[in-house]
Amino acid sequence: MNTFCLPTSVYFDENALDKLKEYKNLNAVIFTDPFMVKSGTANRIAEKLSSCSNVSVFGEVQPDPPIELIAKGLDFLINANADIVVALGGGSSIDAAKAVILMAKRSGKKQNIKLIAVPTTSGTGSEVTQFAVITDKSAGVKYPLVHEDLQPDVAILDPELVRTAPPSITADTGFDVMTHALEAYISTSANEFSDALAEKALELAFKYLPQAYKDGNDLYARDKMHKASCLAGMSFNIVSLGVNHGIAHALGAKFHIPHGRANAMLLPHVMRYNADLPAAFVSGNTNYTKAAVKLAKIAGIAGIKSANIKLAVNSLCDYIAAMERSCGIPETLAKAGVSKDDYEANKESIITSALNDACTAANPRKITRDSVNEILSFIDRF
Ligand SMILES: NC(=O)c1ccc[n+]([C@@H]2O[C@H](COP(=O)([O-])OP(=O)(O)OC[C@H]3O[C@@H](n4cnc5c(N)ncnc54)[C@H](O)[C@@H]3O)[C@@H](O)[C@H]2O)c1
Ligand SMILES: [Fe+2]
Repeated sequence: MNTFCLPTSVYFDENALDKLKEYKNLNAVIFTDPFMVKSGTANRIAEKLSSCSNVSVFGEVQPDPPIELIAKGLDFLINANADIVVALGGGSSIDAAKAVILMAKRSGKKQNIKLIAVPTTSGTGSEVTQFAVITDKSAGVKYPLVHEDLQPDVAILDPELVRTAPPSITADTGFDVMTHALEAYISTSANEFSDALAEKALELAFKYLPQAYKDGNDLYARDKMHKASCLAGMSFNIVSLGVNHGIAHALGAKFHIPHGRANAMLLPHVMRYNADLPAAFVSGNTNYTKAAVKLAKIAGIAGIKSANIKLAVNSLCDYIAAMERSCGIPETLAKAGVSKDDYEANKESIITSALNDACTAANPRKITRDSVNEILSFIDRF
């Protein structure tokens, strides 16, 4: 038996933020990062919560939230006696809030805290997933936690909040969306429901990511990317991801490469690896892997016309790589600021982390140390 449900209520389009006005006589905590406090966005959210008894702001979330931050956030939440938490920010703020609420429940300190996720990046889809990625800085490892208690109750999509994201963050997070949709689409658990969500997410991302990158004030493109991010999140929430995320988590933890950028650098190579194309031309579909056949369909969604599956998959990977170059994504670890010495000192533990990462288990092609090494060889040129 398989099941599909969308446990988070999603509010979108005009006045979506007004959903916050419905929360009355409750203690609210806005969980966010320093940029959202400084830019006044946290205040705008606080104004919408004016019917609550108390509104306080925890504004200390850093990218790739570490365990220590979760402990600090828990103290804040308990002192504020929070009934609702509004997680405002990128995946880091939303994930940190999720982990804190889970800890409050698990420790018996506070049950029934509602989570309202308000994303300010179009990237992680965390507003609709039961995933939270927490970093253990001392061990140099990022852990994707997966639990139904991490699922937000409400998600509010307002593309206006993404407007301030500079082009580099738009690109990094936009390719995170594509990686989510592509990995979900060929995951070992993919089904008709996750496929429908991933296909739509990819259609929107192929069309609107270049425009959102070029003109961050184009709210139409921002809106489409915000929805693409949410759809991709819904898709991978039910079928998980793959080795692309497994390796990206390991690279992010060791070298602090932004999550979406690490995914983007790997994406064309992981897709080609997963397609496992035959060396020679073959006619018909039968000698291709399931992943290759599905990726050829995605090539069609990207507008690529090809005579056969091998050409379609290769063209799709080239197309994504070209899109990434035009959005300033580095092609190698060296260009992402990693030194050869640092890489070599950490390479074996990166491979081990990638193999142990929860996301890697859903990869369609078997993953061994050699295969991670093979994928890394495309980006570890110094
Ligand atoms: N829970 C999930 O399902 C899931 C999925 C993928 C990734 N993640 C995790 O999410 C984290 C990455 O999240 P992210 O990529 O959204 O970035 P982020 O939350 O780490 O933010 C990156 C930077 O962008 C800034 N920023 C965010 N919104 C902005 C805006 N509108 N204007 C200007 N600056 C803005 C932040 O202040 C921060 O400095 C990683 O830890 C990753 O592992 C979680
Ligand atoms: Fe991701």
